[in-house]
Amino acid sequence: MERTSEEVATGEKLTHVAGHIEFKDVHFRYPARSDVEVLRGISLAIRPGQVVALVGASGSGKSTVASLVSRFYEPISGQITLDQTALSKLNPHWLRENIGIVSQEPVLISSTIEDNIRYGKPDASDADVRTAAVAANAFDFVSAFPEGFRTRVGEKGIQLSGGQKQRVAIARALLKNPRILILDEATSNLDTASEALVQEALQRLMSGRTTLIIAHRLATIQSADLIFVMQNGKIVQQGPHVELAQKIGGAYHQLLQHQFGTGISL
Ligand SMILES: Nc1ncnc2c1ncn2[C@@H]1O[C@H](COP(=O)(O)OP(=O)(O)O)[C@@H](O)[C@H]1O
Ligand SMILES: [Mg+2]
Repeated sequence: MERTSEEVATGEKLTHVAGHIEFKDVHFRYPARSDVEVLRGISLAIRPGQVVALVGASGSGKSTVASLVSRFYEPISGQITLDQTALSKLNPHWLRENIGIVSQEPVLISSTIEDNIRYGKPDASDADVRTAAVAANAFDFVSAFPEGFRTRVGEKGIQLSGGQKQRVAIARALLKNPRILILDEATSNLDTASEALVQEALQRLMSGRTTLIIAHRLATIQSADLIFVMQNGKIVQQGPHVELAQKIGGAYHQLLQHQFGTGISL
C-alpha cells in the first residue's frame, strides 16, 4: 500500500492501549486523486472492546476509514485519536504493532506457513504458533500437508484456498494479540465450508478487542455493538442492527432489502 507519511522512528508510544478510537470531522482526499473528496466529514467513536461495523455501497469510503486508522494516510482536516492522543503524534510503527488487520485478500509472504503465522510475533515459540493455528481453525488443514507447518506457500509453494489463507491470517493476528482489530470484508469470497470455520475463528479473534468490521455478511453485522452506514464519504445512519432495521426506507433498511436480498456484497 502507498504510504504518504514518512515512516520515521519518531512519535509517541503509549504505555498502555485501551483502544478508544475517535474520528472528529475527518475529511480526506487521496493524493493521487486530489479532486475527489472521499471522506466528507466523518465523526465516529469506537469504545475500548467495542465491535463496530461499517456498511455501505462499494466505493462509499469504508476501506479508506480503515487505512486512516492505521495511519497509512493523513486526513486533510479533522482529527483521529487513539485514547485521546492524536494519531499524528504517535509513532507509526508502534501504532501498527497494536493493530491487527485481516482483509479480503490476505497477503502471505513467500515462505513457510509457520513463518507466515510467526510474522505476527517474530519471537513466538513453535508451541505458540501451533496454539494460534488451532484457535484459527487452521491446525487440521496445515497438519494434513506432508510437510505440515513447514509447507511453503506463495510463488514457489502450494496455493492455498481463500479460506485457508484467511485462517493463516487470523492465526497471525491471534499471535500478534493486538488491542485493535480491523476486518475488511474478511469473510467475502469464501466457500460455505470455509466460511463457518473462518467466522468461528474471527469470533475468537474479536473477543476483548476494539474491532472495526467492514462487514459483508448480515450475520457479522447483526452482532456488532454499533453499525455506521456510509454513503458517499459520509455517515448517514448509526445504531444497533435492531434499531436501524426498523427504520423503513432508511439507508440501512434499503441496504438490507437491495443488497442482501440480491446477494450483492455490502
Ligand atoms: N488508493 C486510492 N487512490 C485513489 N482513489 C482511491 C484509492 N483507494 C480508493 N479510492 C477511491 O476512494 C473511494 C472510496 O473507496 P473505498 O474506501 O475503497 O470504498 P469501499 O471500501 O467503501 O468500497 C472510491 O471512489 C475509490 O475509487
Ligand atoms: Mg473496501
